[in-house]
Amino acid sequence: MKTLIAYATKRGATRDMAARIAGGLGGADIVDLDGPEAGRVDLSAYGTVVIGASTYAGSLRKSAVTWAKAREAELASKKVALFEIGSAKDALAVETALPGLCAVAVAVAKLGGEIRWKRLSLPERWIIKAIMKTEGDSSTIDDDAVEAFVEAVRKASL
Ligand SMILES: Cc1cc2nc3c(=O)[nH]c(=O)nc-3n(C[C@H](O)[C@H](O)[C@H](O)COP(=O)(O)O)c2cc1C
Repeated sequence: MKTLIAYATKRGATRDMAARIAGGLGGADIVDLDGPEAGRVDLSAYGTVVIGASTYAGSLRKSAVTWAKAREAELASKKVALFEIGSAKDALAVETALPGLCAVAVAVAKLGGEIRWKRLSLPERWIIKAIMKTEGDSSTIDDDAVEAFVEAVRKASL
């Protein structure tokens, strides 16, 4: 059966990761959970559903949490994997936001994050400068974690 990757992004890093994971899996359908098609997805077509979202101020992007919670019963019959995009190495926000899905997921991982300086608002730049003591683009994307996540999803989908 097919794989769906459903993602929620604010600045594009999670969208790029969704595409990278789809490539690693050898293909998957991708849906933007902030777009008009999010409410129209027919999950019956999918055996595996990967959900990814970015974290801001300790919270997972709301559109992903709302979408996943509304479909928890349907997702229970599928292989589910969850990935979080965020620059900090702190506890996973996805475990707080979606504990039920995390408990049954075939993979749950924080894959790192990216600061895309030019895309940040002025207040966001102030926050990042204060926390990270630096400015400009940066990436903490963990390639090994991405590979391990893709492999876990691939194996579970066989
Ligand atoms: C204002 C602000 C707050 C952030 N808060 C967090 C956070 O609490 N935890 C974290 O891991 N990353 C945090 N980040 C980093 C983002 O999650 C990171 O830039 C991520 O790649 C954004 O993904 P997106 O482009 O898909 O939205 C923050 C970034 C900004 C600009």
